[in-house]
Amino acid sequence: MKYRSSYERSAYLYDLFDKKPNIGFFLRCASGIKEILDIGAGTGRIALPLAEKGCRVFCVEPSPAMRREFRKKLRKQKDIADRIILNAGEARSFRFDRTFGFALMSGVFDHFLDDGYRLAALRNISRHLEPGGRFIFDLAGARPKVHQNSVAGERRSVKRSIRRFVSTQSYGKDRYRVTILYEVHDSGKMRKRVEEMGLVGFVSQRGIRIMLHEAGFQIVHEYGGYDSSDYAEGGNVLIIEALKKPDLREAH
Ligand SMILES: C[S@@+](CC[C@H](N)C(=O)[O-])C[C@H]1O[C@@H](n2cnc3c(N)ncnc32)[C@H](O)[C@@H]1O
Repeated sequence: MKYRSSYERSAYLYDLFDKKPNIGFFLRCASGIKEILDIGAGTGRIALPLAEKGCRVFCVEPSPAMRREFRKKLRKQKDIADRIILNAGEARSFRFDRTFGFALMSGVFDHFLDDGYRLAALRNISRHLEPGGRFIFDLAGARPKVHQNSVAGERRSVKRSIRRFVSTQSYGKDRYRVTILYEVHDSGKMRKRVEEMGLVGFVSQRGIRIMLHEAGFQIVHEYGGYDSSDYAEGGNVLIIEALKKPDLREAH
């Protein structure tokens, strides 16, 4: 699977619409941790609040446009800039010459389209964790619903309104094509349309459990929401907390 970005045209609008209530969740999970790996860090939506709490955050982000938005924010927060390391790279192949006690990945796993990529990415993340290191990430808990041009948010200021529409189509087995359209209106007049198209994949809870096991992880919790409620089958989101199993060969 070749990495294809679906954020290049719309990265500057990303933070306006991604209001997932998960920043508090990750801050709680990372409480007391000094150094964190954030894979697919996007615009730094989660990395920056972690750095504000004093963590050093090592970020990997493949989209040039998302990295640009991240850097723009960093320029305004000079006091924490030295606690953020932002690298280009993708989940399967990024490299840091060190390991971490904690890794997070939010909103990224669904972009992995086949089991080969998923397993390679999980193995690479596992390689970057210390034995016993914690990995927390989220993925779709159920198959996406197929629909056309549903309104998915509107942001208004005095003169400007931006509406977002989402369409989801089936695209082969366990793959979906998601089209996001932003319409920007100034003083009631349409000024711009920005369209982004990307593919997402779906993997069952059983499938992800098997892959995590193969990549050397032990699952310690499966949440169904960022309020730390338990996952129930068919829930929108599945949040997995896993530990890297100690490498028994090294113990002998
Ligand atoms: C929905 S955004 C989430 C961004 C950020 N983690 C957050 O929660 O705000 C998904 C991010 O995953 C990145 N991404 C997509 N494919 C990836 C891959 N193969 N490896 C690492 N990151 C990837 C995208 O470029 C994008 O920034």
